[in-house]
Amino acid sequence: MQPVIQFVDVVKIYPLKAGDVMALNHISFAVERGEFISIMGPSGSGKSTLLNLMGCLDPPTSGNIFMSGIGVRAMNDVELTNLRRDRIGFIFQYFNLFPLLNVIENVNFPQMLKSGKDVNPDKAKEVLHAVQLEDQFYTHTPMELSGGQQQRVAIARALINDPDILLCDEPTGNLDSKTGSSIMELMTELNRKGATIICVTHDPTVAKYSDRTIRIVDGCIAS
Ligand SMILES: Nc1ncnc2c1ncn2[C@@H]1O[C@H](COP(=O)(O)OP(=O)(O)OP(=O)(O)O)[C@@H](O)[C@H]1O
Ligand SMILES: [Mg+2]
Repeated sequence: MQPVIQFVDVVKIYPLKAGDVMALNHISFAVERGEFISIMGPSGSGKSTLLNLMGCLDPPTSGNIFMSGIGVRAMNDVELTNLRRDRIGFIFQYFNLFPLLNVIENVNFPQMLKSGKDVNPDKAKEVLHAVQLEDQFYTHTPMELSGGQQQRVAIARALINDPDILLCDEPTGNLDSKTGSSIMELMTELNRKGATIICVTHDPTVAKYSDRTIRIVDGCIAS
């Protein structure tokens, strides 16, 4: 079976006026189906960049990324959009919630992209209950929520389409340790059901939930 994600000699350069930033420096690794991987490394080492490329949100500068054997460089925009929509759940480091939509609308958004108007109205509540956000907040907009509550909305949104790949950038960074552990239990449960999970974290307790850790330093995988 093909790895669910494979990086082959991937370089990511951000061209800036002040000089190019080499965020990923010839990275190669594979993620097998059903793995639970944590990614750790110092601030600025390239973790979010790596996750963005895994999520097909950004193309590599050179090298290639294979998603279940298919190279992203050969995919057009529509194919990439469909891949993201149908297979990938993304929890962003800074949430990326839509400020004008309320909680239910934010969580339902990927479902609407997938099935048009035909959304299951109970599904959003189901995932919001799973991340332990209380019903009284469902009509609030992100500005009317705490950081931890926004984080739980972002997690619920990533789960709504039952993704088979879940990419998480510091998913518990704004949560107290009790809520953080229940989120990690939820991820473990999803992983048991077959989801492949990749989780960026600074927190060794979070990394303990994973099968293995990829360490990244200065854009390179540290052995
Ligand atoms: N959009 C961008 N444009 C230019 N440079 C960027 C951009 N995004 C990231 N970088 C640079 O690339 C490098 C890696 O950044 P990245 O965000 O991947 O780090 P990180 O490991 O996620 O850090 P943190 O733990 O602080 O979130 C840094 O030097 C950063 O300044
Ligand atoms: Mg980051």
